[in-house]
Amino acid sequence: MSDVTTTLKEFKRDIESAKNLDSLEIIETKYLGKKGKINELLQSIGILNQNERKELGSEVNKLKATIIQLIGQKRTQLAGSETSDSFIDVTLPGKRYPKGSLHLVTHAIEEISAIFARIGFIRMQYPEVEWEYFSFDALNMPKGHPARDDFETFFIDAEEDAKFGKQVLTPHTSSGQVREMLRMNKPPIRMINISKCYRPNWDTTHTPMFHQFEGLCVDKNINITHLKGAIDYFAKQFFGENREIRLRPNHFQFTEPSLEPDITCGVCLGTGKVKGVKCKVCKSGWLELAGSGMVHPNVLRAGGIDPDTYSGWAFGFGIERVMMMKEDLKLDDMRTMYGNDIRFLEQF
Ligand code: DAH
Repeated sequence: MSDVTTTLKEFKRDIESAKNLDSLEIIETKYLGKKGKINELLQSIGILNQNERKELGSEVNKLKATIIQLIGQKRTQLAGSETSDSFIDVTLPGKRYPKGSLHLVTHAIEEISAIFARIGFIRMQYPEVEWEYFSFDALNMPKGHPARDDFETFFIDAEEDAKFGKQVLTPHTSSGQVREMLRMNKPPIRMINISKCYRPNWDTTHTPMFHQFEGLCVDKNINITHLKGAIDYFAKQFFGENREIRLRPNHFQFTEPSLEPDITCGVCLGTGKVKGVKCKVCKSGWLELAGSGMVHPNVLRAGGIDPDTYSGWAFGFGIERVMMMKEDLKLDDMRTMYGNDIRFLEQF
């Protein structure tokens, strides 16, 4: 048997046994490589006479062409079977990436805006960096008035204005009252101002940045019953039909009379008792909800509105506070809302 026939036989055996592309590559090198069988055969030609040389030369070249062709075929075959090995199961659930969610205060802002939008109140937002004037003076609290001390305030280190005074981080959303009167020019006014507020406090019921929503309604013949109706409507929408409110006299510089709305406690539903024992949450059946009252004539005047023709009511609620009073949110420390603990945040 000639060397060429033996080599072809051996090659056929080898390629038959090739199970994957790696072993095929080894075979390819064995026959077609620099030191491979084909080159070996070609080198042996040198010692032959001219006729033999010609004959063997053409046989080896034919063999080489056959080997190249068969390796090519095998490669296509193996490559096809290897991809069919990597089967894709399209029924497997995909990878889930952690999804962000809105902060619970943002949820509350949306809910509160919607509740008041249904009774025709326009959502406003006034500056967080505010003039002393809108925060105090325009609200019937002139410079040096002790009532200002109740609103411990962050002052901004910036140039003072002759009329508007210093710049402050707004300590309450009431600063939006006169701004809204000036913007509207003329009643009727129905505003809900929801914004961030700042005061230097840090304990279980206070954070230095918090949120308030301020309701303001000014028109002809507005009286306390309208204020009570609006607060009762909000309380039932936000806390549930079984909650009730009451108005308790108080004092604020910017309202006369001033009233503090209380709401029946969500735990004892106003009875003050749970299974015969004093309710731990409210102790009396009632929880303090907000500040409110009939807009002081001086405040209306500051907003360019004639108090002899128009009257109005206003209220200011803390958003974090009302959130903490929701029955299903058992939160005993307001700071949890701003602690950025993912285990808390991802529940909303
Ligand atoms: N601005 C007051 C505060 O932050 C709350 C308040 C009281 C708002 C009476 C009002 C109001 O609109 O009429 O404590």
